[in-house]
Amino acid sequence: MADSWEKLKAECSGCARCPLGDTRRNLVFGTGNEHAHVMFIGEGPGEQEDLQGVPFVGPAGKLLDDMLEMIDLDRSKVYIANIVKCRPPRNRDPQPDEKAACIQWLRRQIALVDPEIIVCLGRISAMELIRENFRITREHGLWYTVDGRATTAIYHPSALLRDVSKRPETFADLRAIRQQIRAICPEVYEHA
Ligand code: URA
Repeated sequence: MADSWEKLKAECSGCARCPLGDTRRNLVFGTGNEHAHVMFIGEGPGEQEDLQGVPFVGPAGKLLDDMLEMIDLDRSKVYIANIVKCRPPRNRDPQPDEKAACIQWLRRQIALVDPEIIVCLGRISAMELIRENFRITREHGLWYTVDGRATTAIYHPSALLRDVSKRPETFADLRAIRQQIRAICPEVYEHA
């Protein structure tokens, strides 16, 4: 039977496939436009996301909103999700078994949204979705075709909060993302 958002949300909601399910307050499924042309994919929920059940609502999320605005986007135009749906304790990196248990939910979200463009936010996301040995310092802003989708990675907003010297490079990457959107799916900007 064909997949659907209803089916996926129902199956995912009580997920107990890895130990992160034991410590979460809320599962953070994803947010935004389910028919988006562009998806942004982070690493995993932090404290605020775990409390509210919505991705990127803490300090990094505020910066992500500003980054979207810089290229004339907002949450109604894109879909935002994470590699893992539950908060790793003390915001540690998600472990391989946790990513392996969780990634199929994201794969189904990607298939349902069917975006032309995927933007990985940070190293963890790029290593999962582009290449295992992805080097964010060297390869951010480069474009790859992954499963037929134009895919790139930029620094994670949390990294930009910690190290403002990375911001100019990220602004350039964001402008390139806007150009790609104009080239591949101009309708994103047509009803602004
Ligand atoms: N960092 C992430 O990678 N994802 C979130 O949802 C919040 C912070």
